[in-house]
Amino acid sequence: MTKQNIYILGIESSCDDTSASVIHNGTVLSNVVASQSIHEAYGGVVPELASRAHQQNIVPVVHQALKKANITKAQLSAIAFTRGPGLMGSLLVGTSFAKSLAYGLNIPLIDVNHMQAHILAHFIEEDDFKKPPFPFLAMTISGGHTQIVKVDNYFKMTVIGETIDDAVGEAYDKSGKILGLGYPAGPEIDKRAQLGNPKAFKFTKPRVDGLNFSFSGLKTAILYFIQKQTKANPNFITEHLNDICASIQYTIIGILMDKLKKAVKETGITHIAIGGGVSANSGIRKALKDGEQKFGWTTYVPKFEYTTDNAAMIAIVGYLKFLEGDFAAQDVMASARLKI
Ligand code: KG4
Ligand code: ZN
Repeated sequence: MTKQNIYILGIESSCDDTSASVIHNGTVLSNVVASQSIHEAYGGVVPELASRAHQQNIVPVVHQALKKANITKAQLSAIAFTRGPGLMGSLLVGTSFAKSLAYGLNIPLIDVNHMQAHILAHFIEEDDFKKPPFPFLAMTISGGHTQIVKVDNYFKMTVIGETIDDAVGEAYDKSGKILGLGYPAGPEIDKRAQLGNPKAFKFTKPRVDGLNFSFSGLKTAILYFIQKQTKANPNFITEHLNDICASIQYTIIGILMDKLKKAVKETGITHIAIGGGVSANSGIRKALKDGEQKFGWTTYVPKFEYTTDNAAMIAIVGYLKFLEGDFAAQDVMASARLKI
């Protein structure tokens, strides 16, 4: 097989999105994502429902990914899958499926760390998207993760800061729940924040050592603030929703930027790549862009479909590991708390 003809099927099932993607060398031929709307009614992901939905979705999603890529199973060079971190029941669906398919086709199996994949999504071949040069700092921000990672090369990554409690996306979603917004609340808070006054209400930022984050205190502060205000004025939320959202967003951006500035100062690295669903946030994007002038850093944001959970990011890591001959054994096990 020549280097020019490597087809990798990537499978992602760590949380509530079932996704399959085919990558030909570094280029995406298909990236199919089935999101699970069933969780909306519960205001958060219900693990048992997630794994059941993965079981229903995985065969049609893989089928569609192959069809869109216009290839057959026989052309695949290897199967890459998310080994962890994530919800165990969800991970097991993708892991078992990938193992059986690789075994049946007699092709290599490649295990992928979901957090590394969020970072290496920046190396998917795309016109008009610049790739970060090594070394760079990656900030992964989503409903499940908040990390700052020093990336020396594709496979040498060091977590230099992470949340000690909630992820930043959870801070958005839990704040939204307090305000009576739908799930996930991040996009709506972001939209309303653009119409409100970010300094209307002040929420204190947590004190956390080093480059670590904490978001659970902010959620509690918002809860107490809203309880107090609605006691005095039952219409407080509806009368001030945009200002509340803008103030929450302002605080969250402040927390992220403080740690990022500290990380740049400590490491001397000025290339910053972001990933994860929260990187869609307009305020965070603006703060990062403004920082290019103010702090002299350069930022890298992948295409939106590669920032949220997706299988193309799993397939690109599969491709990079394939080139290294770094394969998994058939007895590899899913790992809910897999570390970078
Ligand atoms: O990466 P993702 O799709 O799934 C994982 O959590 O892994 O991220 C989903 C998270 C949710 O918490 C959602 O509220 C948040 O990303 N989110 C946003 C925005 N768009 C999505 N948060 C803030 N602003 C946004 N524009
Ligand atoms: Zn993720």
